[in-house]
Amino acid sequence: MTPQRSNAAQETVDRVRQALGQSTASQGRPGSGPATGGRREFDFTTLPEYEILKIWKAVGDITRIGNPFYRLHDGRAGNTTSIDGRTVTNFSSYDYLGLNGHPDIAAAAKDAIDRFGTSVSASRLSAGERQVHRDLEAALARLSGTEDAIAFVSGHGTNVSVIGELLGPEDLIVADAVIHNSIVEGAKLSGAKRILCPHNDLDAFERALRLNRARYRRALIVVEGLYGMDGDVPDLAGLIKLKRRYNAWLMVDEAHATGALGHTGRGVAEEQGVDPAEVEIWMGTLSKTLAAAGGYIAGSRALIELLKYTSPGFVFSVGLSPPVAAAATAAIDVMMREPWRAAALRRNGRALLEKAKARGLDTGLSIGASVVPVIVGNSPQTVVLSERLLERGFNVVPAVFPGVAENQARLRFFATSEHTPEQIDTVIEAVAEELPKIRSGSSFVSTIAGR
Ligand SMILES: Cc1ncc(COP(=O)(O)O)c(C=O)c1O
Repeated sequence: MTPQRSNAAQETVDRVRQALGQSTASQGRPGSGPATGGRREFDFTTLPEYEILKIWKAVGDITRIGNPFYRLHDGRAGNTTSIDGRTVTNFSSYDYLGLNGHPDIAAAAKDAIDRFGTSVSASRLSAGERQVHRDLEAALARLSGTEDAIAFVSGHGTNVSVIGELLGPEDLIVADAVIHNSIVEGAKLSGAKRILCPHNDLDAFERALRLNRARYRRALIVVEGLYGMDGDVPDLAGLIKLKRRYNAWLMVDEAHATGALGHTGRGVAEEQGVDPAEVEIWMGTLSKTLAAAGGYIAGSRALIELLKYTSPGFVFSVGLSPPVAAAATAAIDVMMREPWRAAALRRNGRALLEKAKARGLDTGLSIGASVVPVIVGNSPQTVVLSERLLERGFNVVPAVFPGVAENQARLRFFATSEHTPEQIDTVIEAVAEELPKIRSGSSFVSTIAGR
């Protein structure tokens, strides 16, 4: 976390404390001194990190704003979802092509349970593999246009484990500043020299490589195919030139790009007409468009073989659950068979972006491929906006500090192929009506928001 970010957090906490003190003398201030005597040192509620949670909870109680996180959904969450028995329009699903619950995919998962059970109980290295694993990896390699692929039980864990293993303290990692947490954690684990470059600034990437490359053994450039927070894309051809010039590997995380980019949904290489073989390490997740859970790496035969014997998150972790592997394979099949889904998603993503812009909302850098943020600019107001939208029948979960910088707090809309034009129109109208009210609104929220 950058010092800038922690200062912003501290300022927010201070404002919240001040506001709480003014409004509720009885609330008191959560204890912040060291634990003294008794068993307090074993009490996690006395940790400073826990204090921040308590403050936010108190703010929520006083303002009667519900917690926008961990909302309980009653069933499948698609373009609509039921929360507390009430059906709302949903813009917080990564099921970009509406494949979760598709009859062919559900049937494939059920068949896999009947044949293999729900677990393979141990690492594939020791307990052996099942045909569903091999089928999935072959399908992922075909989807990615690579020689081979390897599937892990977690998307987040894939990045941590693969980056953490391939790179070491004598290496260099150059990544985009808004890169996903899993890549940051993998880079930390590796012990490599880490340089975060301003978002999509290829000159900064070039400078980082020029000034540092010679001093390190391996170099890795890491970007996302479609940025999950901002909804924009990298310049893949430009990055390929850089990685050639500085003898670096290029890794592209396709978590949000699969299904959303390219005319058949194969991702950023298809979108930008780039040969996938030009990228050394393709990473993706099974949890979004592919309606399952887990992560994968696609690349050369040698890379995949290496990871199968060295990557701790693969070697020392259980193989994918059979129904999960079978579901993801079937999802790839449906996606390839039904390209109208990717076309519908693009139509909806673009419509969402255009409507939001037309109503004067700040959509940042989004290209309207699925992820469309509406930047509010501070966390409390973003949370309030999410709550107001829920009252009006829309589920849109906020992204607030520390997920993004405090002044970049936003609602993130995820368009899917299932949304209707009316759902898109009505949610944007609701945001355009509620946001100005919140910005000029209640003194308490304004105080804690610093406006
Ligand atoms: C860019 C990116 N990479 C990796 C992940 C982790 O994937 P998973 O949630 O499947 O573990 C995410 C999750 O949101 C992501 O957005």
